[in-house]
Amino acid sequence: MAAEVLEALKPRPGGRYADGTIGGAGHAARILAASSPTGWLSGCDRDGVAVETARERLSETFAGRFEIRRGNFSELGDWIAPASCDGVLLDLGVSSPQLDTAGRGFSFQQDGPLDMRMDNRQSLTAADLVNATGAEELAKIFWEWGGERESRRFAKAIIHDRAQRRFETTRQLAELIERLSPRAGKKAHPATQVFQALRIAVNDEIGSLKRGLDGALKILKPGGRLAVITFHSLEDRVVKEFGREKTRDYTFSGPVDVPELRQPREPEMTWVSRKAIPPGEAELEENPRSRSAQLRVLEKL
Ligand SMILES: C[S@@+](CC[C@H](N)C(=O)[O-])C[C@H]1O[C@@H](n2cnc3c(N)ncnc32)[C@H](O)[C@@H]1O
Repeated sequence: MAAEVLEALKPRPGGRYADGTIGGAGHAARILAASSPTGWLSGCDRDGVAVETARERLSETFAGRFEIRRGNFSELGDWIAPASCDGVLLDLGVSSPQLDTAGRGFSFQQDGPLDMRMDNRQSLTAADLVNATGAEELAKIFWEWGGERESRRFAKAIIHDRAQRRFETTRQLAELIERLSPRAGKKAHPATQVFQALRIAVNDEIGSLKRGLDGALKILKPGGRLAVITFHSLEDRVVKEFGREKTRDYTFSGPVDVPELRQPREPEMTWVSRKAIPPGEAELEENPRSRSAQLRVLEKL
């Protein structure tokens, strides 16, 4: 989504930008190049390896024009001054290096420890969840964060198997799911949703996103833009709901929007494009993992 992100944020010399998910610094390098010679970028990532990679990559060309911190983008608002940024980018989910490194435990396609932590300073791992969570709670994780229809059956089977042997590896878990739900004729691997659900739960991805969006709004200047790339419907729903709330010209008290209980107010943001922006054809060809990506862009009023 490189071209689309640049089009959304319109980096310019002297502009200040924040990238909450700096990863390998692909987008960050483009933002810095487009805002040369004086644009500034504050970057962050929870992953120590990503932070080092990004620092190294950006130092080659953009020394003195960026700062990178290791941390959760949910804390952007505590780190960056209010109303100081012209653009904020959140490119959600896992990176290719995280998925492709077996030792990180994100992938059911390679054997590795059942880990899935984006930030390895955190103690909770996927193995902790799989080996110590009760059947009902585990089924809830698979259903809520993975939309897994067989959530209860999978959870029960895990509880049964772990009484004999702890789940330690991605292969052990993937094989159990394959046994319960054979692959024949299915497009996706049967463990796709269980792995997604565990990853979201281990990293509190939805909670971080909600706090991160509020933080992004706080650090944006009026006229500044927020660009968010999501990879699945759960994330997209959170961004859409955030946008809906911030673009409304009224508030309401209580859990539902009843017209009689509306209070008028000035909206805080406006949608830059009503619809989510999909990746272009060239991007899809170059990077098939981008097929489920969607970009949403909001502007602070
Ligand atoms: C899709 S990659 C970003 C790739 C990056 N935009 C690039 O151009 O190379 C997502 C990155 O976001 C990081 N991440 C995910 N959730 C995070 C959070 N709540 N706080 C900080 N970093 C996060 C991951 O560790 C990962 O490195």
